Amino acid sequence: MDNHQSFFFTILILLIWIKIIGGNSIKIQPFSFPSDSAIGKRVSVTCTPLTGEKIEFKWLRNGIEMNNDRPRIQIGSLPLLSSLIIDPLQSDDSGNYTCFVTSRGLTGSYTTSLDVLVPASWIITPSDTDASSGDSLMMNCKGTGKPEPVIIWSKLHGENSGSVLSSGSSHFNIFSNGSLYIENIAKEDEGMYKCNVSNGIGKSLFKTVVIKVIGM
Ligand SMILES: *[C@@H]1O[C@H](CO)[C@@H](O)[C@H](O)[C@H]1NC(C)=O
Ligand SMILES: *[C@@H]1O[C@H](CO)[C@@H](O)[C@H](O)[C@H]1NC(C)=O
Ligand SMILES: *[C@@H]1O[C@H](CO)[C@@H](O)[C@H](O)[C@H]1NC(C)=O
Repeated sequence: MDNHQSFFFTILILLIWIKIIGGNSIKIQPFSFPSDSAIGKRVSVTCTPLTGEKIEFKWLRNGIEMNNDRPRIQIGSLPLLSSLIIDPLQSDDSGNYTCFVTSRGLTGSYTTSLDVLVPASWIITPSDTDASSGDSLMMNCKGTGKPEPVIIWSKLHGENSGSVLSSGSSHFNIFSNGSLYIENIAKEDEGMYKCNVSNGIGKSLFKTVVIKVIGM
């Protein structure tokens, strides 16, 4: 071989090497679960490879292959795409889902995450309380859910109106854990209070309590 031949031979080897190592990847059209994937819903994703023939599909959850055998989880594949359907969603379905494809020795994968949303539920429900004028009062109100619920306290004036209480408004304090603290309670604090627990998923929760102030 002269210098010319060996140069072209080297280029040829290089091109074959790039084809084998660098080209061993099938691109997949990005997919994701709906952003409002809440517990009890039906959700699905579809994996569509952008190249390849006679494609074999595998679905993995947190790196472990999923089977079609649970009635809640269905995998349906056509020659060029595959769908994963979960119905109904449970909170432990959260995780990373991967579509893994093989076609004529080439492979590809795409991973998306699922974070199952859960409506708010009660941990501590506030209850009616009596206090003596001048006392300090702590009212606990707590919920759980995904995302973490927000607690709103309001003082009701009649049937449909109320004013939202916030920390620093007169002698009220609302802690980050949702508890309402009333310092040096007075007769005019007597009345109905509402604790609203909501996280934007499903219905919000609320409880109305009566605080009675004994004394002046
Ligand atoms: C999902 O993937 C993310 C990002 O790679 C990782 O931080 C997380 O721990 C994974 N979750 C599970 C349940 O494996
Ligand atoms: C909420 O936080 C306050 C202040 O840190 C604490 O006194 C109260 O016990 C807490 N309530 C609950 C239900 O954990
Ligand atoms: C509770 O708060 C949420 C969010 O601000 C609101 O949409 C909902 O109407 C409130 N519910 C009640 C009963 O006040």
